[in-house]
Amino acid sequence: MLSSKVNTSTKMYGVIGDPIKHSKSPLMLNRAFQEMKINAIYGAFHVETHQLKEAMEGLRAFKLGGLNVTIPHKVEVMSYIDEIDEGAKVIGAVNTIVNDNGKLVGYNTDGIGYVRSLKEETELDLTGKRILILGAGGAARGVAYALSGESPEHIWIANRTTERATELAESMQPYVQATGMGISDITKINNDVDLVINTTSVGMHPQVDYSPIPSLFIKENMVFSDLIYNPRKTKLLSLAEEKGCQIHSGLGMFIYQGAYAFEYWTGKPAPIEAMKQVMEY
Ligand code: ATR
Repeated sequence: MLSSKVNTSTKMYGVIGDPIKHSKSPLMLNRAFQEMKINAIYGAFHVETHQLKEAMEGLRAFKLGGLNVTIPHKVEVMSYIDEIDEGAKVIGAVNTIVNDNGKLVGYNTDGIGYVRSLKEETELDLTGKRILILGAGGAARGVAYALSGESPEHIWIANRTTERATELAESMQPYVQATGMGISDITKINNDVDLVINTTSVGMHPQVDYSPIPSLFIKENMVFSDLIYNPRKTKLLSLAEEKGCQIHSGLGMFIYQGAYAFEYWTGKPAPIEAMKQVMEY
């Protein structure tokens, strides 16, 4: 039992969100601390929006080592911390806070976690690739920004609401060549795309029977990736697999966003294999 080893030197970490009961982060991060023999524990805190400011004061007063931040606090929490990393500023959301001797620094590890998972699990070299991102919400923004660091040739962002896609593409211009479009316009780029990434909620449990794009768009030479990890294999990934495409599921993103948080907190490499094992990856 972890608790038998807790003492006055134990560093404390956790995740805040509302709701929080479903979170798998405590399981994964406690396993990581244990594997690396770090005297630390990780809990889950149910913090409601009206208590967010107090929660951040508590983090300072209790001198917690850091926190992960999940829905619905990723944007508002930025008002209560001392410094925000460049990437998190561009994305406009923080999911990891490091307590650096009293200075609270915010990062966003979702996008970079996703890209590390994609690269390690597909062995894909993203340099010069032509990428289609489906969706234009917060997840798409994090992924697009992280991908821009990999020197792709072009990123198209296609969304049900065209305006959001155009806005997101425009805001990515300083970092990468990007174009926004309506989802029905993707037929125009059908022969130009190497990698398709779904960031929409289409296909998420329980609406497992839906794909965000028609099966006709899927070509054998494309790689397909879905941020959704429940179900593990979405309708989109099943259709792509049937056509012989390489596929990549969203559970890796969850593991690697946690791995980056672990690394920011401890300065040590995250024990990826142990984390994958406990997540039954
Ligand atoms: P997140 O932070 O997970 O990205 P979000 O900001 O709510 O969440 O974005 C959800 C994304 O899924 C959006 O791109 C949304 O499209 P709209 O901008 O048109 O709303 C997309 N999405 C959600 N439900 C959808 C559906 N039924 N069909 C197509 N796109 C959908």
